[in-house]
Amino acid sequence: MSTTTVTGTSGEDRSDYTRDESKAIRARSLRLLGSLVTPVRAQLWLAGIVLVVSTAFRVLGPALIAYGIDKALPAAVEEMNWLPTIGVVVVYLVTGFAGAALIGWYVVVAARLTQAIMLDLRKRIFLHTQRLSLEFHESYTSGRIISRQTSDLDSIRELLDGGLNELVSGILYGGFTLIALLLIDWQSGVILAVMGIPLFLLMRWFYTRSQVVYRESRVVSAKVIVKFVETMTGIRAVKAFRKEARNEDEFGKLASDYRDVNMRSIQLFGTFEPGLMVVASITVALVLLWGGIRVIDGSILIGTLIAAVLYVRNFFSPLQEVAFFLNSYQSATAALEKVSGVLEEEPTVPDPVKPVDLWNARGHVTFDDVLFGYSADRVILPDFSLDIPAGQTVALVGTTGAGKSTLAKLVSRFYDPTTGRVTLDGVDLRSLHPKDLRRAIVMVTQEAYLFSGTVADNIALGKPDATMEEIRAAARAVGADAFIERLPDGYATDVNKRGGRVSAGQRQLISFARAFLADPAVLILDEATASLDIPSERQIQDALQTLLADRTAIIIAHRLSTVAIADRVLVMEHGRIIEDDAPEVLIGGDGRFAKLHAAWRESLV
Ligand SMILES: Nc1ncnc2c1ncn2[C@@H]1O[C@H](COP(=O)(O)OP(=O)(O)OP(=O)(O)O)[C@@H](O)[C@H]1O
Ligand SMILES: [Mg+2]
Repeated sequence: MSTTTVTGTSGEDRSDYTRDESKAIRARSLRLLGSLVTPVRAQLWLAGIVLVVSTAFRVLGPALIAYGIDKALPAAVEEMNWLPTIGVVVVYLVTGFAGAALIGWYVVVAARLTQAIMLDLRKRIFLHTQRLSLEFHESYTSGRIISRQTSDLDSIRELLDGGLNELVSGILYGGFTLIALLLIDWQSGVILAVMGIPLFLLMRWFYTRSQVVYRESRVVSAKVIVKFVETMTGIRAVKAFRKEARNEDEFGKLASDYRDVNMRSIQLFGTFEPGLMVVASITVALVLLWGGIRVIDGSILIGTLIAAVLYVRNFFSPLQEVAFFLNSYQSATAALEKVSGVLEEEPTVPDPVKPVDLWNARGHVTFDDVLFGYSADRVILPDFSLDIPAGQTVALVGTTGAGKSTLAKLVSRFYDPTTGRVTLDGVDLRSLHPKDLRRAIVMVTQEAYLFSGTVADNIALGKPDATMEEIRAAARAVGADAFIERLPDGYATDVNKRGGRVSAGQRQLISFARAFLADPAVLILDEATASLDIPSERQIQDALQTLLADRTAIIIAHRLSTVAIADRVLVMEHGRIIEDDAPEVLIGGDGRFAKLHAAWRESLV
């Protein structure tokens, strides 16, 4: 459980981690980074070498200028010897061109590297989130999943594309420049090194401050996005209950918070940049002053001084970029932390290590002493045992929140019981091969999701290799063919196009056809007919009677009409079965179901 709290499935993205948690998160990010970089090691080395060589070429410039002024020029003027001058010009040009060519190459190598890593990461996030169990998806909001795949990936790409280059080449360039300066004039080098102390303090201040501000800005911007997404997703409820004015206030407040935190971040730059300029100016002034004195007394030459000043200036120039990059570095680390969190989530319903094959499931379902709760602190099914023989049609009724859907989710193995086991034909669902499990047990819910594509595609989801004939037959069996034929393009109608939009009840009919085409041994209908009108429901029931004849069925419905076709009725209350018998027997008795049924009969007349 400890890993899930760190990764945040149990709540929102937090920023108040303990020291140990932070350490674990950092380790997790590094692991992800390592696994991303390993396949592209060779390219990484290549990029590194190209960068080192091209930086060395760039750093040669001022030294060549010093040589030109101090040695080559006097030789030309005093001895009419132009050779050193020509030589230095040629070398200058060659290193300039070579440096430029290498940089060009580096850009391509680095881009290829970035794209390879991004491709890998993008696919991993998709495949992994898809693989995770329902429990993850029920607690990790879709908005958060979407930002993993979009804005987080974008920040990582930004880092790899620009920021990282900036930092690595900035540091490399700074280091090489300092070395060159020490070689050409060690005293100026010492001045630069000493001025490195205030520079370091300034950078550190900026880094820690901007980290704090950046955190705040992330929290606030997340709130802005959540508010926006929530309002737009619930727009019908917003309009129905006239929540617009309240939303306006709330959103206005969040948006101005966001502006304030952005202002603070800009103010940081407003302090940092002048500070950097001051340190740079002082350093240049000191080098110039001390160098000037030495030029006058003849201990160094003027060309050397020029080179020293150029080096000092060059040393400071990339620092501003590096500072800008610190922000993208932070957003990328944050993104990496969150992405690695998702990627390290394990499915709570894992595939079996040694799967048991069940080629021909008969459909005998049992619950053996099952205890189940979605979380440890609240038990939904306290002690549940049930035996459903193969081929039986069971109607499951009970009050709202009794645990009917929970039972259905356990039979479909969307969740595993906390203790005890659920079996199909005597095999624990936990060891059943996933392909057999999905083929043998199908659940149809009220949700009836349609994917983009045609109506036929959506029905064929139950059996990808189905022929058009089989698809039509399935639709006919559930009474869906009549309305499908009336759609603009019949079975080929795109469900996302105008005219292809189907009603909630029609969606349910399509998902019924889908389930019948899948032909499972166990069929679970969880309020699957709730959106149908009475004639359609009756039609479905006629179809059900024949279609359920040779399979096990669990039908959850508030409308008791379903019960007519059931062999057995289970009445559930607070996670327990309180009545269990044939429908006639229960109706004839004086229990809960008899009362429910009497009330329902009355409501019909
Ligand atoms: N994903 C979940 N996480 C935590 N608790 C849940 C989850 N789904 C359901 N519950 C809780 O489990 C209990 C049983 O819910 P369940 O959906 O099984 O009820 P139900 O009998 O299907 O009710 P209804 O007739 O309203 O569909 C409820 O108290 C509910 O709060
Ligand atoms: Mg339910």
